[in-house]
Amino acid sequence: MNDIAQLRSDFPIFDVAVDGNPLCYLDSAATSQKPQAVIDVIKNYYSQENANVHRGLHTLSQRATQRYEMARETLAEFLNVTSREIVWTSGATESLNLLAFGLTASFIGREVILLSPFEHHANIVPWQEAAKRTGARIEILPITEQGILDLPASLKMIEQLRPAVLSIAQASNTLGNIHPIEPLIEACKKLGTITVIDGAQSLLHLQPDLTKLGCDFFVFSAHKALGPTGVGGLFGRYELLNALPVYKTGGEMIATVRFSDSTYRDAPEKFEPGTPNISGVIAFSEAIKYLQAIDKVALHQYEQKLYRELLQQLTAIDGVTVHGDTNNNIGIVSFSYKNEHHYDLATLLNSFGVAVRSGHHCTQPLMAQLGLDGTIRASLAFYNNNQDINRFINALEASIDILD
Ligand code: ALA
Repeated sequence: MNDIAQLRSDFPIFDVAVDGNPLCYLDSAATSQKPQAVIDVIKNYYSQENANVHRGLHTLSQRATQRYEMARETLAEFLNVTSREIVWTSGATESLNLLAFGLTASFIGREVILLSPFEHHANIVPWQEAAKRTGARIEILPITEQGILDLPASLKMIEQLRPAVLSIAQASNTLGNIHPIEPLIEACKKLGTITVIDGAQSLLHLQPDLTKLGCDFFVFSAHKALGPTGVGGLFGRYELLNALPVYKTGGEMIATVRFSDSTYRDAPEKFEPGTPNISGVIAFSEAIKYLQAIDKVALHQYEQKLYRELLQQLTAIDGVTVHGDTNNNIGIVSFSYKNEHHYDLATLLNSFGVAVRSGHHCTQPLMAQLGLDGTIRASLAFYNNNQDINRFINALEASIDILD
């Protein structure tokens, strides 16, 4: 078993001073930091291995192709699915666009696209465009007053509406709530409703087994799970995935091309035209290998312990309100302080070297539902420690003194 606290030293960014302060990074929900092993892979790829994939007989091209395809195997193993079910994209946003575009055939005879109130704009807007194209309508699952998904009412709603698609995040990027997606998926399966899970926030913290979960599709971004930006992907149950129409066209996704018409390859290749983000994919698989080497239970326990500590210290401050589900959470505190503007507090926190996100977190509909115009969000990962929490709390108290 790893000593989780020791892993921080694998992340070179923590040796860097920001504006003269040691970095107190509490913004992993926006993007995770990268271990040296991942950084090295990108540097080595361009300095010693660079070549295009699937296009050359020469040694470097064959090596790049092998590593690119091995990365698909690594991801598939991590998610407990098969590698033909993994498509590389530029990230969760592109994956959701691909699905919202491709699944429109499933809307025939079923008018409802069901979303949760917690969704990121990337899991709302592509479906709005799909609804415009097809005449489908969007419905939203119910939320409790505490800012938690209302499961009994949600199950009832699914049964009543028989939606074409349910698309929901496994964990909220704004509040950290872990949603009870297992019973939702089960209910959808009985009705033939396609399930899309946004795993952007959950991949790192929950490391889901997709076969066990039973969802039809799952989208993810590398950069939220120790990998680089600009790469991610999706899992799709093969018969459903392969039945989707092509989304982007170009080289390498084709079987034959004539001036009169073209035929396409099967998934996953038919969704990957053009030269892909080769170094990004390989570096992402290095991030996954790094994660695979860590004891999953120990990592989860460590993050949850830190979260409890953060929550306890934060809620002890008079005037602080924490939003969302603090019992089932990936390690995010989203909070307000009295009527102070989130922007002012986040700016003051930054002056103490504390990196948090503030605002609506790309979830304007959720903010409206909670009656908020924004929050301050501190988000944890396993490379944080108690010192980060103490520094954050001290900086917050000092900021409050300035504001009060
Ligand atoms: N989706 C990212 C966040 O929640 C950018 O901050």
